[in-house]
Amino acid sequence: MSPAPAHRVLITGGAGFVGATLALALAERHRDWDVVALDNLKRRGSELNLPRLRAAGVHFVHGDVREPADLQALDPCQAIVECSAEPSALAGRDGATDYALRANLVGAWHCLELARRHDAQLVFLSTSRVYPVAALNRLAFEETATRFELLPEQPLAGASPRGIAEHFPLDGARTLYGTTKLAAELLVAEYRDAFGVRAAIDRCGVIAGPWQMGKVDQGVFTHWMLAHLLGGELSYIGYGGSGKQVRDLLHVEDLVDLVERQLCEPERWDGVTANVGGGRDCSLSLLETTALCREISGRELPVGPAGAERPGDVPLYVSDCSRLFGLTDWRPRRGAREVLEDVAAWIRANAEAVRAALGTS
Ligand SMILES: NC(=O)c1ccc[n+]([C@@H]2O[C@H](COP(=O)([O-])OP(=O)(O)OC[C@H]3O[C@@H](n4cnc5c(N)ncnc54)[C@H](O)[C@@H]3O)[C@@H](O)[C@H]2O)c1
Repeated sequence: MSPAPAHRVLITGGAGFVGATLALALAERHRDWDVVALDNLKRRGSELNLPRLRAAGVHFVHGDVREPADLQALDPCQAIVECSAEPSALAGRDGATDYALRANLVGAWHCLELARRHDAQLVFLSTSRVYPVAALNRLAFEETATRFELLPEQPLAGASPRGIAEHFPLDGARTLYGTTKLAAELLVAEYRDAFGVRAAIDRCGVIAGPWQMGKVDQGVFTHWMLAHLLGGELSYIGYGGSGKQVRDLLHVEDLVDLVERQLCEPERWDGVTANVGGGRDCSLSLLETTALCREISGRELPVGPAGAERPGDVPLYVSDCSRLFGLTDWRPRRGAREVLEDVAAWIRANAEAVRAALGTS
């Protein structure tokens, strides 16, 4: 009889950008673990990850977190990383709110039920979008030559030149996406309290890297590089067309390193809710992103102003990771240039497949 696996990890959304990158890394680094990736392949391009998962020995299950039966049919696991989502900040704006609510909130609830049944640890991938739009729009910032920059004096607690910390006010609307994630965070707290489910919550800023099927409303840095290398149109939306809006970015491999630590020490990370991002040191404005993309790709795509801000947009978001840094010596190791260089290398090596999957002209 073969020895029981030391660890069976279920990754929901396991064919997506973060989920597949994590599944591949865990399968490679922990040969005695069983890594299971469940995904309904809703996201265009996720199917490109299936041969990669197969080759790495990751067991793929075509399933849907909205369907309890799909999760209940799985063998017991010791850990669940909930990476499935409809992650667009524009989700539901057209009135079709059903999918985001069911996938992001009901799906998270189903994952919690599974964790409770199997006494499994849960790592929940949340988002900086839990912070309300109106509050972020009140931040005091100055305009430098290439970006918006937070000022030392801020009108709200939890905001500083380092970025937004977890004690930033939570009152107000935050996009349907952000609301489903925050509601899921609240459910996580209930399941910890009522049923002893061990859980950690990572509130991620923008994550970027190879194999991200970037689009204008999700995965903006990859989207920018995709347009430079494969063609497409880019514009600076809102904020006077200046392109000075800023986000921090985290290389997906850095996130993988953190989640791996969380999986290796479930007790230590239980109850932690922390911002996870590149922070001020790894942040870019769109204008700066264009400059880097031009340098790395060797191509100059014209980028002009276009219209007013989209609903839910904010001029600036940077993760203040002080809480996280107080808990661990994990730090983002890859800078913004490295993120974009890695993305460019991936696009160049997979241009035809990516073009076919994303329909980029
Ligand atoms: N990428 C980012 O910048 C970012 C930032 C903050 C938080 N997050 C969070 O990280 C997680 C992973 O995001 P990502 O960037 O990999 O997104 P992604 O879209 O690449 O991956 C999500 C995967 O979930 C799958 N999925 C969607 N609905 C599903 C369902 N009902 N059942 C099963 N699978 C389903 C999709 O097919 C896709 O493969 C998400 O929870 C997202 O909210 C991402």
